[in-house]
Amino acid sequence: MTNTITLTIDGKKVQASPEATIQQVLESINKPAPLICAHEATTPEGLCRQCVVEVEGWRVLAPACVTKVSAGMVIHTASERVIRSRRTILEMLNASVDLSESPELQSQMDEFGANRERFPEAKTREQDVKDDNPFFVRDYEKCLMCWRCVQACGDDIQYTYAISIGIDGFICIVREHVGVVANAVSI
Ligand code: SF4
Ligand code: FES
Repeated sequence: MTNTITLTIDGKKVQASPEATIQQVLESINKPAPLICAHEATTPEGLCRQCVVEVEGWRVLAPACVTKVSAGMVIHTASERVIRSRRTILEMLNASVDLSESPELQSQMDEFGANRERFPEAKTREQDVKDDNPFFVRDYEKCLMCWRCVQACGDDIQYTYAISIGIDGFICIVREHVGVVANAVSI
């Protein structure tokens, strides 16, 4: 490999491109961080923080999907701080969003020992399913606000800008734009 740097991940030296993100390097050694908002087809935005890792000397945990590696970095992917952060994010998400039909997140909750009853008083996104147009049904109870659908309709795939994030009461929602929605990708 030309033009590589060396960093340490969980005690092992790893060579990587200086252009790579931490997640790309973790994937190259079969240790990918768990993702919620990032997807291979869309530009990572670092929204959910589920992919965080601990970098020695850094005050805050680093989101692996958007953080570039640098020479000499010492990374811990499974420290107590990392596990606690991922667990708490899942617990907060689960408290407000219906994750019952998300096997990937159910599996993450099992993996990180999330307490599904941790925040019983949390406000939820509970509301009726919206089926008011011929293109798609919207069930906001299940929306994680991961942004993927907005990105897919925008610069990452379709350039129709058919939907965006808006505010409805106390929650953010994915909102469609009349006139261009017919060209939107399916969500
Ligand atoms: S509707 Fe969009 S923002 Fe909500 S979970 Fe699905 S892809 Fe993510
Ligand atoms: S997956 Fe990295 S911030 Fe969401």
